[in-house]
Amino acid sequence: MRSLIDIVNLSTQEIDELIAVAQDIMANPSKYAEKCRGKKLATLFFEPSTRTRLSFEAAMYELGGNVLGFSEASSSSSAKGESVSDTIRVVSGYADIIAMRHPKEGAPLAATFVSNVPIINAGDGGHNHPTQTLTDLLTIKKEKGTLDNLTIGCCGDLKFGRTVHSLVKALQRYQGIKFVFISPEELRIPDYLRYELQKAGADFVEVQKLDEAIPQLDILYMTRVQRERFFNEADYIRLKDTYILDSEKLQNAKSDLSILHPLPRVNEISTEIDNDPRACYFRQALYGKYIRMALILKLLEVE
Ligand code: NCD
Repeated sequence: MRSLIDIVNLSTQEIDELIAVAQDIMANPSKYAEKCRGKKLATLFFEPSTRTRLSFEAAMYELGGNVLGFSEASSSSSAKGESVSDTIRVVSGYADIIAMRHPKEGAPLAATFVSNVPIINAGDGGHNHPTQTLTDLLTIKKEKGTLDNLTIGCCGDLKFGRTVHSLVKALQRYQGIKFVFISPEELRIPDYLRYELQKAGADFVEVQKLDEAIPQLDILYMTRVQRERFFNEADYIRLKDTYILDSEKLQNAKSDLSILHPLPRVNEISTEIDNDPRACYFRQALYGKYIRMALILKLLEVE
């Protein structure tokens, strides 16, 4: 039995296979409509979510399966003081697979120690978010036709932004990848990630100015400043509008730039560019459903 806690739990070959299955699902959805008949997915969300939870649920329904779960900690027994372990022990008797999001880093890993069914990490604190990364990789593959030889700018809150951490770990295993990390000094990538990149011999730079970085980019991955992870509101207010991508900034970008964002967007992308063909973020959210379908099939070992 396999779980997905960290994106590196999957080899690049397995990721490429998941992307291929997701593309086949998009082309032939009816072929997959009964694959999970009789199976149940539990979505245990101890932290807010729109896309991740609903795309998991839509994914299971489109595979012919069923869904149970809760969308906030306050409506579960965690509000009475129940531990994550106890909740998981119980739910793993009710469901065939569990997707969980939790504010504490490592909670989904801890869940695997007591679960009888596969656990999918749907976001743990400021740490990891592997299924968003699968979504991002499918989006890049659809937009660029490859995951190799790309210059990728990650902009915004690179310290607390878990989607960036997982994306970087996944992409650095592909060929010819260059990262440009664009953030204020206080929100640079965590030290452990910088160390891992250095150890792997990855090609990366850390800068502060989006305008200067933009012309060289093939992919621009924008992120929101993660208010809920800040220790003090004044710092959040000072940093929240550091970067705002608008049509003026895009003037110096490549004509085939792909702009991604895991969403939710706050202020960091002006709505005036939503109709620019380079804006991929709403397509990206849709792809999240298909790649999660592929992942559920893999972890449930459905042929
Ligand atoms: C992200 C998350 O939850 O980390 N959202 C998502 O899953 N699409 C990004 C964010 O909240 O900023």
